[in-house]
Amino acid sequence: MKTVLLYANNPDTPALAAERIRKGELVAIPTETVYGLGADGLNPEAVAKIFLAKGRPQDNPLILHVADAADIEKLCHSIPPEAYALAETFWPGPLTMVLPARDIVPKCTTAGLPTVAVRCPDCEVTREIIRLSGVPIAAPSANLSGKPSTTTAEHVLHDHEGKIPCVVDGGPCRVGVESTIIDLSEDTPRLLRPGGITPEQLHNILGDIMIDKAVTASVDKDTVVKAPGMKYRHYAPDCRVLIIDGDLPAAAEYIRKHFQPGNRVLCFEEELSFFQDFAPLAYGKEKDPDTLTAGLFAALRQLDDPAIGTVFARCPRGSGKALAVQNRLEKAAGFQRVNSRNKHFIIGITGGTGCGKTTALNVIRNLGGHIIDCDAEYHRLLQRDRQMLAAIETRFPGVVREGALDRKKLGGIVFAEPAALKDLNRITHTAVKQAVLRQLLPTPELVAIDAIGLFEGELAELCDITVAVTAPVEDRVARLMERENISREYALKRIEAQPSNEEFSRRCNYTLKNNGDLEDFQAKCLDFFSKLAIIEEKS
Ligand code: TXA
Ligand code: MG
Repeated sequence: MKTVLLYANNPDTPALAAERIRKGELVAIPTETVYGLGADGLNPEAVAKIFLAKGRPQDNPLILHVADAADIEKLCHSIPPEAYALAETFWPGPLTMVLPARDIVPKCTTAGLPTVAVRCPDCEVTREIIRLSGVPIAAPSANLSGKPSTTTAEHVLHDHEGKIPCVVDGGPCRVGVESTIIDLSEDTPRLLRPGGITPEQLHNILGDIMIDKAVTASVDKDTVVKAPGMKYRHYAPDCRVLIIDGDLPAAAEYIRKHFQPGNRVLCFEEELSFFQDFAPLAYGKEKDPDTLTAGLFAALRQLDDPAIGTVFARCPRGSGKALAVQNRLEKAAGFQRVNSRNKHFIIGITGGTGCGKTTALNVIRNLGGHIIDCDAEYHRLLQRDRQMLAAIETRFPGVVREGALDRKKLGGIVFAEPAALKDLNRITHTAVKQAVLRQLLPTPELVAIDAIGLFEGELAELCDITVAVTAPVEDRVARLMERENISREYALKRIEAQPSNEEFSRRCNYTLKNNGDLEDFQAKCLDFFSKLAIIEEKS
């Protein structure tokens, strides 16, 4: 098939492209965000061609592009007033809204979801094509699935030349990362993907919004997420991308130590001179996030070469547009990052009793890591930390006798009264944190802190990442009964006194689910921990 290139500034282009859309053909279209691979969004056969050309998983729904905000009423129902307010302010522009879908929208477009994503792009030629074709255009980013998005017509041709009939060339995309996606189909608006419209801008109109977990953390492929597209490895060039956090001198030092011939550095323009010995490629200015969004995908495509091995990448931090850049770069890196600032890479492990934390910790130990067990630390402190004991005795008179703590008596008080438990925790958490800090100084690079109260004790602040280990309650009860020779009721009571699996998951960056099979779980832990870059570096 010959791919026809139409230029946006040619007055015949909209009519020619619209005719192809009406015939059910694929047309790659420019938008202000990225190029899209467009087809008639109401025609299931045309939509099927999109999935085929991209190699896109069927469970990943498409965005419908409209020429005018009023058009969404034909596609969506139960549209809340907030949607109109957002359209008024940000359309045409890089914002996609998820709303309840009308029956007219085919199931293949929504991947069977009851909702549909709609957006009005800020690109005159594309809106004219939509108007003339008389249908909403379904268009995912035009890259092959998993690859960096396409921000020029050349990128589109690189991925699809000879395989699709038509590309409309509108020059380089202004924004450069895909649209912000906000889900308005539930009570609280939820940000599913950061982009050119920032959380702050949305907040100004919507008030409180939730940021979906998939925006900032890795999600395994079995997890149900709100935007199915967010769980796939994405935007990834054919080499390893490793994000290097930390200030410039520390990052440069880290890269100097680990750089191999052929490797590259992806950095901010301001840093180019620092990295001149390491084949640097700048993708924009750190001080001007608009240049970072605009340049990121072109840079990632330039680095799409397995011969490179590793790309050491610098990533902006913070909110606003930086969040969109961080999200794309983290996904390109498969969330692999090292902190050049710290001497240690610290993993906080938490989760309820009987979930399998010990298994996870043993895996880390076998990888050369050092384990700090906060529970054991606490019991050691009870033996020798006079100051802590004195504080406990002051708050709970009579529980310390002859320098020893009567744990049963103390337990009786604190388990009966939440406020008392809180007071006790305040005393012990401070002491445990001090003990952890003392241990950190002379230890090796990789450290795991094992603490059920990882967050309450503020230990999480010390950690580079936090991991929750979770398991079904029934499995935990059985394990506890066997391990500690206690009754079913007592085991259940102990488990119920702790935060739930969901609570641990919610607070941690990652979750390791233990489904009861020891070997399986060990393999899962090994896979996860050995993927953390710093561990790889050691072996
Ligand atoms: O800027 C953009 O949005 C570009 C241009 C071409 O408009 N399009 C784009 O499409 O980025 P795509 O397919 O690469 O990403 C669409 C994202 C996916 O993560 C998908 O899972 C999510 O939108 N999505 C689509 N429909 C959804 C729905 N009903 N509910 C939740 N997420 C949805
Ligand atoms: Mg995409």
